[in-house]
Amino acid sequence: MKVFINKVIPEIGFKLLDEAGIAYTVWKEKPILDRGQAIQFCKGHDAFLSVGQAGLDADFFRECKHLKVVALHSVGFDGIDIKAATENGVPVGNTPNVLNKATAETALLLMLTVARKALYLHNKIKQGEWGASQQPTQDLGIDLAGKTLGIVGLGRIGTELAKIVTQSWGMKILYHNRTTNAEAEKELGAKKVSMDELLAGSDVVSVHTALTSETKGMFGMEQFKKMKPSAIFINTARGGVHKEDELIEALQQQIIWGAGLDVTNPEPMSKDNPLLEMENAVVFPHIGSATKETRDKMSTCAVENIIAGLKGDPLPYPVNP
Ligand code: DGY
Repeated sequence: MKVFINKVIPEIGFKLLDEAGIAYTVWKEKPILDRGQAIQFCKGHDAFLSVGQAGLDADFFRECKHLKVVALHSVGFDGIDIKAATENGVPVGNTPNVLNKATAETALLLMLTVARKALYLHNKIKQGEWGASQQPTQDLGIDLAGKTLGIVGLGRIGTELAKIVTQSWGMKILYHNRTTNAEAEKELGAKKVSMDELLAGSDVVSVHTALTSETKGMFGMEQFKKMKPSAIFINTARGGVHKEDELIEALQQQIIWGAGLDVTNPEPMSKDNPLLEMENAVVFPHIGSATKETRDKMSTCAVENIIAGLKGDPLPYPVNP
């Protein structure tokens, strides 16, 4: 039994594979493999541990139906043709839960960085502009304590964020979901509202929904115009949920106050993107789960899926319905 791994995963993952007596090939080179190459490699292997979702479409699963498991090194599976995987008998697994706190912390970091213009001011120091002449009215940010956070998609990650901001800063929570999050309502005082109420009533709007046909392009000018002019937009979910051109326009026209993105559309973002030059915008390169502890746990989950799949057992973290 042999696994193909398309990037270098944390050491713990290799250790677990060694302990289980499973051989592997790791693609350590640049550039990243294209779909055709990934198919060729997978043909000589029994399982695929995939960092990223590129190329996992219907053709891939048709060509690689011999695979006993595809283990993603991520929670998201929006880019994968799960229907085709299921039709071709390939179990797909992901890494749920273990990255909830790290991703919530990333959203928090974006909120604070935007609210206090931290990156912009840091860059001003680098340009020698920490002037003694700084006025008390200059470079002011906005308070978050006591304000209202609107969470679009109050699931596992959104709830972690809600816990931090309600408990530490007394923020109030509005949320928009298809289902009711009774626990968050009881424990955190979260209030379920319509999308329009959330947009109008929130000082910060944070997106934590999966990318689906329903959420694709959910945030555009129409939504930004319904937000407060003092509001901040945060997206740590998927770049496809917002329309980037309209977000840029909304910031340029001061329709909203600021934005923080850990996800962009496309990724990677071009270095010429106007968001990178704006005082009230901050962009991270999709680092939601990028902590040592979290990536170790993700590797562990992915390898647990591989081990189960190779044995023909149900995956511990399955994605197929
Ligand atoms: C995830 O795990 O889905 C992260 O967003 C990385 O893609």
